[in-house]
Amino acid sequence: MAWEPDHYLRFADHRARPGVELMARIRHDDPGLVVDLGCGPGNLTALLAERWPRARVVGIDSSAEMIEAARSNHPGVEWIAADIEKWEPERPVDVLYSNATLHWLDDHATMFPRLRSWLTPSSGVVAIQMPDNWKAPTHRIPAEILDDGTWPAGAAAALMRDRLSAPEDYRRWLQPAVVDQWRTTYYQELTGPDAVWGWLTGSVLRPVLAALDADDGNRFAVQCKQRYAVAYPHDADGNVLLPFSRLFMVATG
Ligand SMILES: C[S@@+](CC[C@H](N)C(=O)[O-])C[C@H]1O[C@@H](n2cnc3c(N)ncnc32)[C@H](O)[C@@H]1O
Repeated sequence: MAWEPDHYLRFADHRARPGVELMARIRHDDPGLVVDLGCGPGNLTALLAERWPRARVVGIDSSAEMIEAARSNHPGVEWIAADIEKWEPERPVDVLYSNATLHWLDDHATMFPRLRSWLTPSSGVVAIQMPDNWKAPTHRIPAEILDDGTWPAGAAAALMRDRLSAPEDYRRWLQPAVVDQWRTTYYQELTGPDAVWGWLTGSVLRPVLAALDADDGNRFAVQCKQRYAVAYPHDADGNVLLPFSRLFMVATG
């Protein structure tokens, strides 16, 4: 899927905040190797590099557009275009970080123990945040629209559905590390016309739009925007409040 770094960064503050809060929970004084899986445009990877200036910091992303944006905005970091499902570190990782990415991948039961196995024994840390709002109108509305049977084959399949497992499962897959987990709902105030649509077309609705031609894309946009306007009404100043829940976990050792 092609990403648009500029569109994604339109909401950079809202998107970065959970990543910063995740980073704050990592306890490591002097990592040698820090890896950011699904680094996107690299703004959070650059913060990892600022926090640990002596570390080798590597950002991995499968999107050529994202890696290109990261490389031109943050020259001090090592950027690798690769698929998380195929990439392997050459040496144990001291801090493995992944913000708002792993929900794009299937089969967490295999992936999480694999990620854990990359850590430096006893001191390595893996820190992960994934959106956990799959039953919210943001995701329910496009699913209901696409499941009405009037869309080309492939469009409904392109919508990401809930891939998250129960927190206890992640705990088990990350053991024997000590696992710290929490869930936060951010009440994000968005501005501008069709702001919820704009937020979602920067990420989860991109593959759906890519699977539709221009006419169907417009039809889908009209239906989504109408229903988002009801689910997330504007206040008197034209702002919209978008509650957005996220699951966090930091496993050490
Ligand atoms: C929502 S963005 C998050 C970017 C960044 N971590 C942040 O928090 O701003 C998700 C990123 O995961 C990347 N991604 C998705 N699946 C991937 C995979 N299998 N391998 C590598 N990167 C992947 C996408 O290209 C995208 O840049």
